[in-house]
Amino acid sequence: MCGIVGYVGEQQALEVVLGGLRRLEYRGYDSAGVAILHGGRLQVERKAGKLSNLEKEIGEKSLPGTLGIGHTRWATHGPPTDRNAHPQVDCAGKVAVVHNGTIENFEVLVRGLEDRGHTRTSDTDTEVVAHLVEERYDGDLAATVRSICQDLEGSFVLVIAHQDEPDLVVAARRNLPLVIGLGEGENFVGSDVTAFIAHTREARAVEQDQVVEVRRSGVTVTDLEGNVVEGDSYHVDWDTAAAEKGGHEFFMLKEIEEQPAAIRETLGGRLQEDGLLHLDELSMSDQDIRDIEQVVIVGCGSAYHSGLVGKYALERWARLPVQAEMASEFRYRDPVIGRSTLVIAVSQSGETADTLEAVRHARHLRAKVLAVTNTVGSTISRESDAALYTRGGPEVAVASTKSVMTQITAMYLVGLYLAQVRGTRDPDEVRAHLADLQAVPALVQEVLDRMGPVRQLARELVDEERVLFLGRHVGYPMALEGALKLKELAYIGAEGFPAGEIKHGPIALVEQGTPVIVIAPRHALQAKLVNNVQEVRARGARTIVIATDGDESVTPYADTIIRIPDTKSLLTPLLTIVPLQVLSAEIARARGLDVDQPRNLAKSVTVE
Ligand code: G6P
Repeated sequence: MCGIVGYVGEQQALEVVLGGLRRLEYRGYDSAGVAILHGGRLQVERKAGKLSNLEKEIGEKSLPGTLGIGHTRWATHGPPTDRNAHPQVDCAGKVAVVHNGTIENFEVLVRGLEDRGHTRTSDTDTEVVAHLVEERYDGDLAATVRSICQDLEGSFVLVIAHQDEPDLVVAARRNLPLVIGLGEGENFVGSDVTAFIAHTREARAVEQDQVVEVRRSGVTVTDLEGNVVEGDSYHVDWDTAAAEKGGHEFFMLKEIEEQPAAIRETLGGRLQEDGLLHLDELSMSDQDIRDIEQVVIVGCGSAYHSGLVGKYALERWARLPVQAEMASEFRYRDPVIGRSTLVIAVSQSGETADTLEAVRHARHLRAKVLAVTNTVGSTISRESDAALYTRGGPEVAVASTKSVMTQITAMYLVGLYLAQVRGTRDPDEVRAHLADLQAVPALVQEVLDRMGPVRQLARELVDEERVLFLGRHVGYPMALEGALKLKELAYIGAEGFPAGEIKHGPIALVEQGTPVIVIAPRHALQAKLVNNVQEVRARGARTIVIATDGDESVTPYADTIIRIPDTKSLLTPLLTIVPLQVLSAEIARARGLDVDQPRNLAKSVTVE
C-alpha cells in the first residue's frame, strides 16, 4: 500500500526522498510523487506508474532544497493518474500533502470546501486536507493539522509541508503505520523504517492520533490536543544491505535463498540449555497458559496458510481445539471467544487491516491476543497483548517466502511451548521435536541446492493456463500456498485442494495433460496420497510429485518427481514449500513478468 517519506535536514531532500520511496516500493503502488521546499516555494512533481516514470519526469529539472516529502500511491479514491498522484496541493500551491489511508467523510468535507470557493483538481480524498490547511493555517502548521485531524474520519497517515515553514514537516497518524527516524541535524518520517534506514537506525513509533513535528534540530510528538507526548526510541538491526537484492535479479529469489538463515533467526535464543523452550515474549504465566481452552489463529493470504499449519501443530502437541481462519471473515461471524481463548494474529507486516481489525475485535471480546509478526513496532504488535517476532529481516518482494517459513517456525515454537507448559508432551518429546526443528535450516539448504530440475520444470509449464495442487494434512496448507504463489506471480489459474476432496468436484478440471502437483512427503497418509495421484493420472493428468528421498511408492505414478530430504511429517511444510516458491518465481520470470511486484497486488494491504 502507499509508501510515505518526509525529510528535513542538511542533505538534498530529493535524493533522500526518492531513495526512501525506492525502498518502500515493495509495498505496491501505481503512481509516485515528491514535493521539495526551497526559497519559500514548493515544487511538486508527480507521475502515474513506477518511480522510474517520476524520475524521467523530473529529468534535468533542478529541485534543490533540504526539506521534502514523497509518496508512492496505491490507488483507492480515483484511478492512478498523474493528477491523482500525491502530493496533493491546495488552491494556491502553498501546501503539499501526502496521505496513506481513506478519509471516509471526504465527500461532506469536499462539499463544504466547494461551497467556500475551493476548486478540486483531483479525484482524491487527500486533496481535501490540503484545502483545509489552506483555510485554517494561521502560522502554526502543527496546530492546524491537529485541528483538521479532529474533523477527519477513517484512517490516515498524513505528511504535510507548507511553503511558509522552511524547517517543518508535520505528520499525523490514525490506524495506519508511521515511524520517526531520528538523525543528527536531520530527521525523518516514513511508513516504515526502510524509508530512512540508509540514514539512521534510531526509530520511534508514532501512536494512534498523534501529530509529529519534524525539524532539523529534533522531533516533537503531541496528541490531538497539543500535549507533548514523550516516547522511547529503539534501534533497528536491519541494515541497508539486507534490503538490497544481493546480486539476484529479483528480491524474491534472494529472499528464497535467505530462508535457512531466517529460520535460524526465528529459533535463535529461544531454546534453553536444557533443550526446552523459553518464550517470555508470550507474556503469559504458566497458569494463564494452562487456562487456555481454545486457540483461534487469524491471518490473510500466506499468513493464513502459516496459521493453518499452526493449527495442525498446536492440536497435535498442545491438545487444544484450534481454528485457523482468514482474518477478513473473523469478526463478521460473531465468533464465540472470551477470556480463555488465545487468539494468534499472524502478519509479516503487522499492518494488514483485516488482521488488525480481528485483533481489535478479539481484544474487545476479552481474548488474549498474541501477534506473530516480523515488524517490531507495527500496529498489530502494539495492539496485541504480546508479540512473538519472527525475525525474518526485511521482505521486499510482494509475495511472501521467508515470512511464511518464519511464521510456520514460530507456530511450531508456540505449539511446543504450550505443550511443554501444559504438560501435554513430556519434556523429552519436546526436546526431540526442537532438535528436529533445529535441523531444518540445513535441510532447507539441501532443497535449495537441488533446484535445477524445478527450473527445468518451470520452462516446461510456462504456457500452462491451469495447474492443480493437492496435499493432505499439513500438505494441504502448502497446496494452498503453492497455488497462491502461482496465481500471484505467474497469473496462472491455480487451485489447491485437500487431496481427499478431489473426487468431490475438482477432478472434473482434469483433462489430458493438466499439470497436477501433489505434495506427498512420507507420512501416515502416504498410501492415500498415492491413490490420489493414480486417480488423477488415470484421467490424463501430468503428475508432478514432491516426495521424500528414497520413497519409491509413488514413482510409478509420477511423471516428474521432486525430491526433498526426510524430516518429521509435521515439519515437512518447511521443505515442500521451497520447490513451489521456486517454480512460481521461475515461471513468472520465464513469462517476462515482474516477480517482485505482481500486478494489482500490494505487500501490505492496509485497507479493508
Ligand atoms: C498481501 C501480500 C501477501 C501477504 C498478505 C498478508 O496480500 O501480498 O503476500 O501474505 O498480504 O500480509 P501480512 O503482512 O499480514 O503477513
